[in-house]
Amino acid sequence: MSKDILSITDSRTGKSYELDVTDGNIRAKDLRQIKVNDDEFGMMSYDPSFENTASCKSSVTFIDGDKGILRYRGYPIEQLAEKSTQLEVSKLLIDGELPNKVDLDKWISDVKEFNSVPKEIENIITSFPKNSHPMGVLISAIAALGTFYPNSKEISDEEENYKNICRLMAQVPILAAYFYRHSQGLPIVPPDNSMSYSENFLNMLFQGDEKKLNPVLVDAMDTLLILHADHEQNCSASVMRNTGSSEPDPYSAVASATAALYGPLHGGANEAVLEMLTNEIKTVDNIPEFLEKVQKKEALLMGFGHRVYKSYDPRAKYIKKAADSVFEITGTNPLLDIALELESIALSEDYFIQRNLYPNVDFYSGLIYQSMGIPTPMFTVLFTIGRTPGWLAQWKEFLNDKDQKIARPRQIYTGYDSRDYVELSSR
Ligand code: SDX
Repeated sequence: MSKDILSITDSRTGKSYELDVTDGNIRAKDLRQIKVNDDEFGMMSYDPSFENTASCKSSVTFIDGDKGILRYRGYPIEQLAEKSTQLEVSKLLIDGELPNKVDLDKWISDVKEFNSVPKEIENIITSFPKNSHPMGVLISAIAALGTFYPNSKEISDEEENYKNICRLMAQVPILAAYFYRHSQGLPIVPPDNSMSYSENFLNMLFQGDEKKLNPVLVDAMDTLLILHADHEQNCSASVMRNTGSSEPDPYSAVASATAALYGPLHGGANEAVLEMLTNEIKTVDNIPEFLEKVQKKEALLMGFGHRVYKSYDPRAKYIKKAADSVFEITGTNPLLDIALELESIALSEDYFIQRNLYPNVDFYSGLIYQSMGIPTPMFTVLFTIGRTPGWLAQWKEFLNDKDQKIARPRQIYTGYDSRDYVELSSR
Protein backbone atom coordinates (compact mmCIF):
# COMPACT_ATOMS: atom_id res chain seq x y z
CA MET A 1 0.00 0.00 0.00
CA SER A 2 1.50 3.37 -1.04
CA LYS A 3 2.56 5.56 1.84
CA ASP A 4 0.76 8.86 2.49
CA ILE A 5 3.07 11.69 1.52
CA LEU A 6 2.96 15.48 1.93
CA SER A 7 4.82 17.11 -0.95
CA ILE A 8 6.26 20.56 -0.23
CA THR A 9 7.99 22.89 -2.68
CA ASP A 10 10.10 25.67 -1.18
CA SER A 11 9.72 28.77 -3.40
CA ARG A 12 12.97 30.16 -1.98
CA THR A 13 14.99 27.37 -3.58
CA GLY A 14 12.58 25.61 -5.94
CA LYS A 15 13.43 22.38 -4.09
CA SER A 16 10.67 19.84 -3.38
CA TYR A 17 10.40 17.58 -0.37
CA GLU A 18 8.27 14.58 0.51
CA LEU A 19 7.23 14.23 4.16
CA ASP A 20 5.67 11.01 5.48
CA VAL A 21 2.08 11.43 6.66
CA THR A 22 1.23 9.02 9.51
CA ASP A 23 -2.29 8.97 10.96
CA GLY A 24 -2.90 12.23 9.10
CA ASN A 25 0.04 14.06 10.65
CA ILE A 26 3.67 14.83 9.89
CA ARG A 27 6.62 14.62 12.26
CA ALA A 28 7.67 18.23 12.90
CA LYS A 29 11.32 17.10 12.83
CA ASP A 30 10.94 16.13 9.15
CA LEU A 31 10.67 19.87 8.40
CA ARG A 32 14.32 20.27 9.38
CA GLN A 33 15.49 19.02 5.96
CA ILE A 34 13.98 22.18 4.40
CA LYS A 35 16.85 24.69 4.18
CA VAL A 36 18.10 27.48 1.95
CA ASN A 37 21.76 26.96 2.90
CA ASP A 38 23.15 23.62 4.01
CA ASP A 39 24.64 25.07 7.21
CA GLU A 40 21.22 26.17 8.46
CA PHE A 41 19.47 24.46 11.39
CA GLY A 42 16.51 23.77 9.11
CA MET A 43 12.84 24.64 9.20
CA MET A 44 10.77 24.51 12.40
CA SER A 45 7.04 25.01 12.91
CA TYR A 46 6.22 28.13 14.97
CA ASP A 47 3.33 27.30 17.31
CA PRO A 48 3.07 29.66 20.34
CA SER A 49 1.07 27.96 23.18
CA PHE A 50 1.07 24.77 21.09
CA GLU A 51 -2.37 25.36 19.53
CA ASN A 52 -1.57 22.96 16.71
CA THR A 53 1.17 20.77 18.12
CA ALA A 54 0.75 17.15 19.28
CA SER A 55 3.36 16.70 22.02
CA CYS A 56 2.67 13.01 22.41
CA LYS A 57 0.62 9.98 21.45
CA SER A 58 -1.81 9.07 24.21
CA SER A 59 -4.59 6.54 24.80
CA VAL A 60 -5.73 7.94 28.15
CA THR A 61 -8.44 10.49 27.24
CA PHE A 62 -10.24 11.41 24.04
CA ILE A 63 -11.98 14.75 23.48
CA ASP A 64 -13.94 15.83 20.41
CA GLY A 65 -14.28 19.58 20.87
CA ASP A 66 -16.84 20.07 18.10
CA LYS A 67 -19.13 17.26 19.24
CA GLY A 68 -18.58 17.86 22.97
CA ILE A 69 -17.33 14.30 23.52
CA LEU A 70 -15.11 13.27 26.47
CA ARG A 71 -14.06 9.63 27.04
CA TYR A 72 -11.64 8.14 29.60
CA ARG A 73 -9.97 5.11 27.99
CA GLY A 74 -12.92 4.95 25.58
CA TYR A 75 -15.68 5.11 28.20
CA PRO A 76 -18.03 8.14 27.82
CA ILE A 77 -17.78 10.56 30.75
CA GLU A 78 -21.57 10.50 31.14
CA GLN A 79 -21.54 6.73 31.86
CA LEU A 80 -18.59 6.96 34.27
CA ALA A 81 -20.15 9.90 36.13
CA GLU A 82 -23.41 7.92 36.41
CA LYS A 83 -22.07 4.47 37.28
CA SER A 84 -18.47 4.61 38.51
CA THR A 85 -16.49 5.97 41.49
CA GLN A 86 -13.42 8.20 41.66
CA LEU A 87 -11.15 5.35 42.73
CA GLU A 88 -12.44 3.02 40.02
CA VAL A 89 -12.03 5.78 37.40
CA SER A 90 -8.52 6.48 38.73
CA LYS A 91 -7.58 2.84 38.22
CA LEU A 92 -9.09 2.95 34.72
CA LEU A 93 -7.10 6.07 33.81
CA ILE A 94 -3.81 4.88 35.31
CA ASP A 95 -3.89 1.24 34.14
CA GLY A 96 -6.12 1.47 31.06
CA GLU A 97 -8.93 -0.94 31.94
CA LEU A 98 -11.94 -1.03 34.26
CA PRO A 99 -10.74 -3.29 37.13
CA ASN A 100 -12.58 -6.50 38.04
CA LYS A 101 -13.71 -6.84 41.66
CA VAL A 102 -10.49 -8.47 42.87
CA ASP A 103 -8.30 -5.79 41.27
CA LEU A 104 -10.57 -2.96 42.40
CA ASP A 105 -10.60 -4.21 46.01
CA LYS A 106 -6.80 -4.52 45.94
CA TRP A 107 -6.44 -0.98 44.50
CA ILE A 108 -8.73 0.44 47.18
CA SER A 109 -6.86 -1.40 49.93
CA ASP A 110 -3.46 -0.33 48.52
CA VAL A 111 -4.57 3.33 48.51
CA LYS A 112 -5.91 2.93 52.06
CA GLU A 113 -2.58 1.45 53.16
CA PHE A 114 -1.06 4.90 52.55
CA ASN A 115 -3.99 6.86 53.94
CA SER A 116 -1.90 8.96 56.37
CA VAL A 117 0.90 11.53 56.16
CA PRO A 118 4.15 11.87 58.17
CA LYS A 119 3.60 13.91 61.38
CA GLU A 120 6.19 16.46 60.20
CA ILE A 121 4.00 17.26 57.18
CA GLU A 122 1.20 18.17 59.58
CA ASN A 123 3.61 20.62 61.26
CA ILE A 124 4.61 22.06 57.85
CA ILE A 125 0.97 22.58 56.89
CA THR A 126 -0.02 24.14 60.20
CA SER A 127 3.03 26.45 60.07
CA PHE A 128 1.37 28.39 57.22
CA PRO A 129 -0.65 31.50 58.19
CA LYS A 130 -4.36 30.57 58.44
CA ASN A 131 -5.22 33.04 55.64
CA SER A 132 -2.70 31.55 53.16
CA HIS A 133 -4.21 30.58 49.83
CA PRO A 134 -4.76 26.79 50.05
CA MET A 135 -3.26 26.25 46.59
CA GLY A 136 0.06 27.78 47.65
CA VAL A 137 0.03 25.50 50.69
CA LEU A 138 -0.91 22.45 48.61
CA ILE A 139 1.85 23.03 46.04
CA SER A 140 4.38 23.30 48.87
CA ALA A 141 3.03 20.35 50.85
CA ILE A 142 2.96 17.99 47.86
CA ALA A 143 6.58 18.86 47.03
CA ALA A 144 7.52 18.45 50.71
CA LEU A 145 5.80 15.05 50.79
CA GLY A 146 8.32 13.75 48.26
CA THR A 147 11.20 14.46 50.66
CA PHE A 148 9.81 11.80 53.02
CA TYR A 149 9.95 9.16 50.28
CA PRO A 150 13.49 9.45 48.84
CA ASN A 151 13.14 6.15 46.95
CA SER A 152 10.45 7.82 44.85
CA LYS A 153 13.27 9.15 42.66
CA GLU A 154 13.71 5.58 41.37
CA ILE A 155 11.18 6.17 38.60
CA SER A 156 12.41 3.18 36.58
CA ASP A 157 11.18 0.93 39.42
CA GLU A 158 7.57 0.09 38.62
CA GLU A 159 6.84 -1.22 42.10
CA GLU A 160 8.16 2.01 43.62
CA ASN A 161 6.10 4.04 41.14
CA TYR A 162 2.96 2.10 42.09
CA LYS A 163 3.55 2.82 45.79
CA ASN A 164 3.95 6.53 45.09
CA ILE A 165 0.87 6.59 42.87
CA CYS A 166 -1.10 5.07 45.77
CA ARG A 167 0.48 7.54 48.23
CA LEU A 168 -0.39 10.56 46.07
CA MET A 169 -3.95 9.33 45.55
CA ALA A 170 -4.37 8.90 49.31
CA GLN A 171 -2.37 11.83 50.63
CA VAL A 172 -3.24 14.82 48.41
CA PRO A 173 -6.79 14.91 49.90
CA ILE A 174 -5.28 14.64 53.41
CA LEU A 175 -2.98 17.62 52.80
CA ALA A 176 -5.98 19.60 51.52
CA ALA A 177 -8.19 18.70 54.48
CA TYR A 178 -5.45 19.33 57.05
CA PHE A 179 -4.90 22.86 55.81
CA TYR A 180 -8.65 23.52 55.63
CA ARG A 181 -9.03 22.56 59.30
CA HIS A 182 -6.00 24.66 60.24
CA SER A 183 -7.38 27.66 58.29
CA GLN A 184 -10.68 27.36 60.20
CA GLY A 185 -8.90 27.08 63.57
CA LEU A 186 -10.29 23.54 63.94
CA PRO A 187 -8.49 20.42 65.16
CA ILE A 188 -7.22 18.11 62.42
CA VAL A 189 -9.45 15.12 61.64
CA PRO A 190 -7.38 12.04 60.80
CA PRO A 191 -8.24 9.90 57.75
CA ASP A 192 -10.73 7.07 58.37
CA ASN A 193 -10.22 3.87 56.40
CA SER A 194 -13.70 2.65 57.22
CA MET A 195 -15.03 5.23 54.76
CA SER A 196 -15.05 5.51 50.97
CA TYR A 197 -12.62 7.89 49.24
CA SER A 198 -14.96 10.89 48.99
CA GLU A 199 -16.69 10.22 52.31
CA ASN A 200 -13.29 10.15 54.05
CA PHE A 201 -12.33 13.45 52.38
CA LEU A 202 -15.53 15.23 53.40
CA ASN A 203 -15.25 13.73 56.89
CA MET A 204 -11.72 15.16 57.26
CA LEU A 205 -13.25 18.54 56.36
CA PHE A 206 -16.56 18.43 58.24
CA GLN A 207 -16.48 15.63 60.81
CA GLY A 208 -19.61 15.69 62.98
CA ASP A 209 -21.62 17.91 60.62
CA GLU A 210 -24.26 15.42 59.51
CA LYS A 211 -25.78 17.86 56.98
CA LYS A 212 -22.47 18.33 55.15
CA LEU A 213 -21.81 14.59 55.28
CA ASN A 214 -25.18 13.71 53.76
CA PRO A 215 -24.71 10.67 51.43
CA VAL A 216 -26.15 12.73 48.52
CA LEU A 217 -23.36 15.28 48.99
CA VAL A 218 -20.75 12.50 49.26
CA ASP A 219 -22.01 11.07 45.94
CA ALA A 220 -21.97 14.54 44.36
CA MET A 221 -18.37 15.06 45.50
CA ASP A 222 -17.35 11.70 44.04
CA THR A 223 -19.05 12.58 40.74
CA LEU A 224 -17.32 15.96 40.66
CA LEU A 225 -13.94 14.28 41.22
CA ILE A 226 -14.68 11.88 38.32
CA LEU A 227 -15.60 14.80 36.05
CA HIS A 228 -12.28 16.49 36.86
CA ALA A 229 -10.08 13.36 36.68
CA ASP A 230 -8.38 13.91 33.31
CA HIS A 231 -8.60 16.02 30.20
CA GLU A 232 -5.80 14.91 27.81
CA GLN A 233 -3.03 17.47 27.17
CA ASN A 234 -4.39 20.46 29.12
CA CYS A 235 -1.94 22.98 30.55
CA SER A 236 -1.28 21.16 33.84
CA ALA A 237 -1.08 17.70 32.26
CA SER A 238 1.51 19.05 29.82
CA VAL A 239 3.45 20.47 32.78
CA MET A 240 3.22 17.08 34.51
CA ARG A 241 4.73 15.45 31.41
CA ASN A 242 7.35 18.16 30.90
CA THR A 243 8.47 18.07 34.53
CA GLY A 244 8.36 14.26 34.49
CA SER A 245 10.58 14.28 31.40
CA SER A 246 13.63 15.34 33.41
CA GLU A 247 12.93 12.36 35.75
CA PRO A 248 12.40 13.89 39.19
CA ASP A 249 10.20 12.09 41.75
CA PRO A 250 6.43 12.10 40.99
CA TYR A 251 5.67 14.38 43.97
CA SER A 252 7.75 17.17 42.39
CA ALA A 253 5.96 16.58 39.08
CA VAL A 254 2.50 16.68 40.71
CA ALA A 255 3.50 19.84 42.64
CA SER A 256 4.47 21.51 39.34
CA ALA A 257 1.20 20.42 37.70
CA THR A 258 -0.70 21.78 40.71
CA ALA A 259 1.05 25.12 40.24
CA ALA A 260 -0.02 25.18 36.59
CA LEU A 261 -3.62 24.32 37.53
CA TYR A 262 -3.70 27.21 40.03
CA GLY A 263 -3.91 29.92 37.37
CA PRO A 264 -7.33 31.59 36.76
CA LEU A 265 -7.21 30.68 33.06
CA HIS A 266 -7.06 26.99 34.03
CA GLY A 267 -8.19 25.31 37.25
CA GLY A 268 -8.28 28.60 39.15
CA ALA A 269 -11.29 29.60 37.02
CA ASN A 270 -13.76 27.93 39.40
CA GLU A 271 -12.68 30.35 42.14
CA ALA A 272 -12.66 33.25 39.65
CA VAL A 273 -16.26 32.45 38.60
CA LEU A 274 -17.46 32.87 42.19
CA GLU A 275 -15.50 36.13 42.53
CA MET A 276 -17.07 37.34 39.25
CA LEU A 277 -20.63 36.41 40.28
CA THR A 278 -20.23 37.71 43.85
CA ASN A 279 -18.09 40.81 43.48
CA GLU A 280 -18.42 41.92 39.83
CA ILE A 281 -21.93 41.05 38.67
CA LYS A 282 -23.73 40.73 42.05
CA THR A 283 -27.30 40.84 40.61
CA VAL A 284 -29.12 39.70 37.47
CA ASP A 285 -29.73 43.37 36.58
CA ASN A 286 -25.98 43.97 36.25
CA ILE A 287 -25.47 41.18 33.68
CA PRO A 288 -25.92 43.32 30.51
CA GLU A 289 -23.42 45.93 31.76
CA PHE A 290 -20.88 43.22 32.67
CA LEU A 291 -21.25 41.49 29.30
CA GLU A 292 -20.63 44.85 27.64
CA LYS A 293 -17.35 45.07 29.58
CA VAL A 294 -16.48 41.59 28.35
CA GLN A 295 -17.19 42.52 24.73
CA LYS A 296 -14.99 45.57 25.15
CA LYS A 297 -12.34 43.12 26.37
CA GLU A 298 -12.23 44.81 29.78
CA ALA A 299 -13.07 41.50 31.48
CA LEU A 300 -13.20 37.80 30.77
CA LEU A 301 -16.38 35.81 31.29
CA MET A 302 -14.81 33.35 33.71
CA GLY A 303 -16.02 29.76 33.38
CA PHE A 304 -16.69 30.29 29.67
CA GLY A 305 -14.61 29.27 26.67
CA HIS A 306 -12.23 26.42 26.02
CA ARG A 307 -9.22 25.69 23.83
CA VAL A 308 -10.72 22.42 22.63
CA TYR A 309 -14.49 22.49 23.23
CA LYS A 310 -16.14 24.67 20.62
CA SER A 311 -19.50 23.41 21.83
CA TYR A 312 -20.87 22.71 25.30
CA ASP A 313 -18.33 21.12 27.69
CA PRO A 314 -19.98 17.74 28.47
CA ARG A 315 -18.77 18.04 32.06
CA ALA A 316 -20.62 21.34 32.57
CA LYS A 317 -23.84 19.61 31.57
CA TYR A 318 -23.25 16.91 34.17
CA ILE A 319 -22.18 19.33 36.86
CA LYS A 320 -25.41 21.24 36.38
CA LYS A 321 -27.22 17.93 36.95
CA ALA A 322 -25.19 17.18 40.11
CA ALA A 323 -26.08 20.68 41.30
CA ASP A 324 -29.78 19.81 41.35
CA SER A 325 -29.22 16.89 43.75
CA VAL A 326 -26.96 19.00 46.00
CA PHE A 327 -29.34 21.96 46.10
CA GLU A 328 -32.17 19.65 47.16
CA ILE A 329 -30.19 19.03 50.35
CA THR A 330 -28.48 22.39 50.88
CA GLY A 331 -31.08 24.72 49.39
CA THR A 332 -30.45 26.53 46.10
CA ASN A 333 -27.37 28.70 45.88
CA PRO A 334 -28.59 32.31 45.44
CA LEU A 335 -25.88 32.83 42.81
CA LEU A 336 -27.43 30.11 40.65
CA ASP A 337 -30.06 32.47 39.24
CA ILE A 338 -27.35 34.89 38.16
CA ALA A 339 -25.31 32.04 36.62
CA LEU A 340 -28.27 30.62 34.73
CA GLU A 341 -29.33 34.07 33.44
CA LEU A 342 -25.71 34.88 32.52
CA GLU A 343 -25.45 31.64 30.55
CA SER A 344 -28.76 32.20 28.79
CA ILE A 345 -27.93 35.79 27.76
CA ALA A 346 -24.32 34.98 26.78
CA LEU A 347 -25.40 32.04 24.62
CA SER A 348 -27.79 34.32 22.72
CA GLU A 349 -25.27 37.09 22.00
CA ASP A 350 -23.27 37.14 18.75
CA TYR A 351 -20.00 37.95 20.53
CA PHE A 352 -20.07 34.63 22.36
CA ILE A 353 -21.70 32.61 19.60
CA GLN A 354 -19.12 33.72 17.00
CA ARG A 355 -16.31 32.75 19.38
CA ASN A 356 -17.87 29.43 20.41
CA LEU A 357 -17.88 30.46 24.04
CA TYR A 358 -19.88 28.03 26.16
CA PRO A 359 -19.80 27.24 29.89
CA ASN A 360 -16.86 24.99 30.76
CA VAL A 361 -16.23 22.65 33.67
CA ASP A 362 -15.52 25.59 35.99
CA PHE A 363 -18.70 27.58 35.47
CA TYR A 364 -21.05 25.69 37.77
CA SER A 365 -18.70 23.60 39.93
CA GLY A 366 -17.99 26.44 42.36
CA LEU A 367 -21.69 26.96 43.04
CA ILE A 368 -21.93 23.36 44.20
CA TYR A 369 -18.80 23.52 46.31
CA GLN A 370 -20.01 26.74 47.95
CA SER A 371 -23.39 25.15 48.75
CA MET A 372 -21.53 22.18 50.26
CA GLY A 373 -19.90 24.63 52.68
CA ILE A 374 -16.50 24.71 51.01
CA PRO A 375 -14.79 28.14 50.99
CA THR A 376 -14.04 29.64 47.55
CA PRO A 377 -10.21 29.49 47.88
CA MET A 378 -10.53 25.69 48.30
CA PHE A 379 -12.25 25.18 44.92
CA THR A 380 -9.08 24.66 42.89
CA VAL A 381 -7.79 22.36 45.64
CA LEU A 382 -10.78 20.13 44.87
CA PHE A 383 -9.89 20.32 41.19
CA THR A 384 -6.36 19.18 42.15
CA ILE A 385 -7.69 16.19 44.09
CA GLY A 386 -9.87 15.21 41.13
CA ARG A 387 -7.07 15.68 38.57
CA THR A 388 -4.28 13.89 40.44
CA PRO A 389 -5.12 10.46 38.92
CA GLY A 390 -5.16 12.02 35.45
CA TRP A 391 -1.74 13.56 35.94
CA LEU A 392 -0.43 10.23 37.24
CA ALA A 393 -1.90 8.41 34.23
CA GLN A 394 -0.23 10.88 31.86
CA TRP A 395 3.07 10.62 33.77
CA LYS A 396 3.04 6.81 33.69
CA GLU A 397 2.20 6.78 29.97
CA PHE A 398 5.03 9.24 29.33
CA LEU A 399 7.57 7.06 31.20
CA ASN A 400 6.57 4.06 29.08
CA ASP A 401 6.62 5.95 25.74
CA LYS A 402 9.83 5.09 23.83
CA ASP A 403 9.19 8.11 21.57
CA GLN A 404 9.68 10.50 24.52
CA LYS A 405 12.76 12.08 26.10
CA ILE A 406 13.44 15.26 28.06
CA ALA A 407 11.18 18.05 26.83
CA ARG A 408 13.18 20.93 25.34
CA PRO A 409 11.38 23.07 22.69
CA ARG A 410 13.31 25.31 20.27
CA GLN A 411 12.77 29.06 19.69
CA ILE A 412 12.88 31.62 16.93
CA TYR A 413 15.55 34.07 18.13
CA THR A 414 14.57 37.72 17.67
CA GLY A 415 17.23 39.35 19.87
CA TYR A 416 20.45 41.25 19.11
CA ASP A 417 23.29 39.80 17.07
CA SER A 418 26.66 39.66 18.90
CA ARG A 419 27.65 43.01 20.54
CA ASP A 420 30.51 44.07 22.83
CA TYR A 421 30.26 44.82 26.55
CA VAL A 422 29.85 48.54 27.36
CA GLU A 423 31.57 49.85 30.52
CA LEU A 424 29.19 51.36 33.07
CA SER A 425 30.82 54.77 32.73
CA SER A 426 29.97 54.77 29.02
CA ARG A 427 26.29 53.80 29.28
C1 SDX B 1 -9.95 24.53 32.22
O1 SDX B 1 -7.44 22.70 28.43
C2 SDX B 1 -8.25 22.06 29.22
O2 SDX B 1 -8.69 20.95 28.97
C3 SDX B 1 -8.58 22.80 30.50
C4 SDX B 1 -9.66 22.18 31.37
C5 SDX B 1 -9.23 20.85 31.97
O3 SDX B 1 -10.12 20.07 32.32
O4 SDX B 1 -8.00 20.66 32.19
O5 SDX B 1 -10.84 22.02 30.63
C6 SDX B 1 -9.95 23.09 32.57
O6 SDX B 1 -8.94 25.16 32.35
C7 SDX B 1 -11.19 25.13 31.65
C8 SDX B 1 -11.03 26.63 31.27
C9 SDX B 1 -11.14 27.46 32.54
N1 SDX B 1 -10.79 28.88 32.24
C10 SDX B 1 -11.71 29.82 32.20
O7 SDX B 1 -12.92 29.64 32.34
C11 SDX B 1 -11.15 31.23 32.02
C12 SDX B 1 -11.93 31.97 30.95
N2 SDX B 1 -11.68 31.37 29.67
C13 SDX B 1 -10.67 31.96 28.80
O8 SDX B 1 -9.56 32.45 29.49
C14 SDX B 1 -10.38 31.09 27.58
O9 SDX B 1 -11.58 30.70 27.07
C15 SDX B 1 -9.47 29.88 27.72
C16 SDX B 1 -8.18 30.20 28.35
C17 SDX B 1 -10.15 28.80 28.51
C18 SDX B 1 -9.21 29.35 26.32
O10 SDX B 1 -8.55 30.35 25.66
P1 SDX B 1 -8.03 30.16 24.14
O11 SDX B 1 -8.33 28.82 23.61
O12 SDX B 1 -6.62 30.61 24.11
O13 SDX B 1 -8.98 31.14 23.36
P2 SDX B 1 -8.59 32.58 22.94
O14 SDX B 1 -7.99 33.30 24.11
O15 SDX B 1 -7.77 32.48 21.70
O16 SDX B 1 -10.03 33.20 22.63
C19 SDX B 1 -10.54 33.26 21.34
C20 SDX B 1 -11.43 34.52 21.37
C21 SDX B 1 -10.67 35.78 21.79
O17 SDX B 1 -11.39 36.87 21.22
P3 SDX B 1 -10.83 37.52 19.80
O18 SDX B 1 -9.38 37.86 20.04
O19 SDX B 1 -11.05 36.43 18.76
O20 SDX B 1 -11.70 38.73 19.61
O21 SDX B 1 -12.45 34.35 22.37
C22 SDX B 1 -12.28 35.33 23.39
C23 SDX B 1 -10.87 35.83 23.27
O22 SDX B 1 -10.76 37.16 23.78
N3 SDX B 1 -12.50 34.66 24.67
C24 SDX B 1 -13.18 35.16 25.68
C25 SDX B 1 -13.19 34.16 26.67
N4 SDX B 1 -12.50 33.11 26.24
C26 SDX B 1 -12.08 33.41 25.00
N5 SDX B 1 -13.78 36.37 25.83
C27 SDX B 1 -14.42 36.54 27.02
N6 SDX B 1 -14.46 35.64 28.03
C28 SDX B 1 -13.86 34.45 27.89
N7 SDX B 1 -13.91 33.56 28.86
